[in-house]
Amino acid sequence: MGDVISLLLLLLCLSGLILLLVRRPRSRRSPLPPGPTPLPLLGNVLQLRTGGMVNSLRQLRKKYGPVFTVHLGPRRVVVLWGYDAVKEALEDLADNFSGRGTLAALGEALQGFGLLFSDGERWWPLRQFSLTTLQDLDSGKQSIEEQVQAEARCLVAEFRQTEGSPFDPTFFLSRSACNVICSIVFGRRFADTDESFLNMLAKLNQVFVRLSSTWGQLYEMFSWVMRFLPGAHKHIIQDLEDINSFILERIKAKQASLDHANPQDFIDCFLVQMEKDILNPATEFHLRNLAVTVCNLFFIGTETVSSTLRYGLLILLKFPEVADKVSQEIDRVIGRSRLPAVADRSRMPYTNAVLHEIQRYSDVVPLNLPHTLTRDTRFRGYTIPQGTEVFPVLSSVLQDPSHFRHPESFDPERFLDQQGGFQTNSAFMPFSAGKRACVGQQLASMELFIFLTALVQNFTLESLVPAHDIRLTPQDCGFASIPPCFQLRAVLRRGGTDASKEPPRDQSLGVGEAGGSPANHGPSRGPTPGM
Ligand code: HEM
Ligand SMILES: *[C@@H]1O[C@H](CO)[C@@H](O)[C@H](O)[C@H]1NC(C)=O
Ligand SMILES: *[C@@H]1O[C@H](CO)[C@@H](O)[C@H](O)[C@H]1NC(C)=O
Repeated sequence: MGDVISLLLLLLCLSGLILLLVRRPRSRRSPLPPGPTPLPLLGNVLQLRTGGMVNSLRQLRKKYGPVFTVHLGPRRVVVLWGYDAVKEALEDLADNFSGRGTLAALGEALQGFGLLFSDGERWWPLRQFSLTTLQDLDSGKQSIEEQVQAEARCLVAEFRQTEGSPFDPTFFLSRSACNVICSIVFGRRFADTDESFLNMLAKLNQVFVRLSSTWGQLYEMFSWVMRFLPGAHKHIIQDLEDINSFILERIKAKQASLDHANPQDFIDCFLVQMEKDILNPATEFHLRNLAVTVCNLFFIGTETVSSTLRYGLLILLKFPEVADKVSQEIDRVIGRSRLPAVADRSRMPYTNAVLHEIQRYSDVVPLNLPHTLTRDTRFRGYTIPQGTEVFPVLSSVLQDPSHFRHPESFDPERFLDQQGGFQTNSAFMPFSAGKRACVGQQLASMELFIFLTALVQNFTLESLVPAHDIRLTPQDCGFASIPPCFQLRAVLRRGGTDASKEPPRDQSLGVGEAGGSPANHGPSRGPTPGM
């Protein structure tokens, strides 16, 4: 931390000097939305200090309204706050807002290749390919659903092996999420003891945590000088290189044994496409894009899912009465003798509501990924030039008080109608919206449903501390929102194959009253759903 402060001091001096040297051009009226006056090179660092980027932006929104401009160091960013502004941009003006901005800390390593951080002519074919391939694979020999179920079986086995003693679920959850991506891209999962796999997983996790730390937030503003200092970005670059070589090695092996008529997974499909396009010099289907795209899938598809799952478990510990209602619904609809399947979800409105509320509440990608404008665009009376960076802040949508009453409370009932049926909400946008919306949305929803229901089906989850002492505030909140660390006990529920005959569960085992429960989870209202 001392490093960061001295760096800031240095920067302050520097910018003071520069202030003396160059007068800011005040004369040219900016066409951009209003915002705090930036210091040269330092931008709005003085306004952005307190308690994480999202909170700083929330303060600025109070002063400047839902569309405003901030300067992250020398980066000029238009911030969109709240459902209306974000929807207007990403959905109504989808093409204009479909460009991708950069994460400074990743930019150097990825250099504009791959699906996640590319644009225009490179991005479009990669996105189309990825969407179709995910669909094709799901209707293939072993559907993606079956692969997720297989992974859920392993996760349950892992939890069972703890035999009711306390443990931190982080590692198990990210390993499951990561193995799902492995199944999709490599056509196989990795054994729990595979060194190179575990190594990659640890690195993915490190990159994510570093990006979300105070350091990561500073780097987004000051990469122009921090890149010359020793520090975490060197580790990020190294970690990404290691992840990349893990991937490349396996791509090479798959290339050698490719059966063109029978592509089995994402990489096979891409390799086949590469061969088809081999005579086209402008093709985007080449090794570089393949490796980086696969890396992208790991990067965005592992920690997002596993953080949401971790938040989900923590929330279930905090609100045992919610966990209880979920497990009753599981017993009613699925029973205990088979794994949950996607088709069950529509018959489980309460569980579905809980999952939506978990995703809304955990808000794992609070700022969204940065966008840019592909064209000069008129937006709310401003003319925003092509190339301007835009943050359509997801946190501000998921917590928009005009769409979610008391957004700071965890309340699954908000996703239920009077009859106890599931009701969606247009501001439920954890995967963003428009042309850049998450490619893995269906996959992620499937994972969350199958993993969480499989765990609740098999175990009673017990907290080590009284429920009202459980804090839900994220441990770190920058690029990603990282849930606080916690331990739990997973106590095996009594077996029984015919679940509908199970007696109601005895809930006297200890987590105590949900002291701070903000919502009323009293006796369920209306007729019992799902029967
Ligand atoms: C709970 C889990 C997940 C959340 C909350 C999430 C959220 C997001 C968000 C907010 C974006 C940026 C959208 C934008 O720029 O407007 C994104 C993009 C993306 N996500 Fe996810 N994601 C999740 C899981 C996954 C998974 C499992 C995959 C794997 C297939 C995936 C693949 C992608 C890809 C490829 C993009 C880039 C799309 C593009 O730039 O065109 N995501 N995701
Ligand atoms: C745990 O769940 C699996 C399927 O998810 C099931 O086969 C198994 O019987 C369950 N175990 C218990 C003790 O209920
Ligand atoms: C969006 O971009 C198109 C060009 O594709 C442009 O003609 C249009 O004016 C833009 N929309 C707005 C509202 O500026």
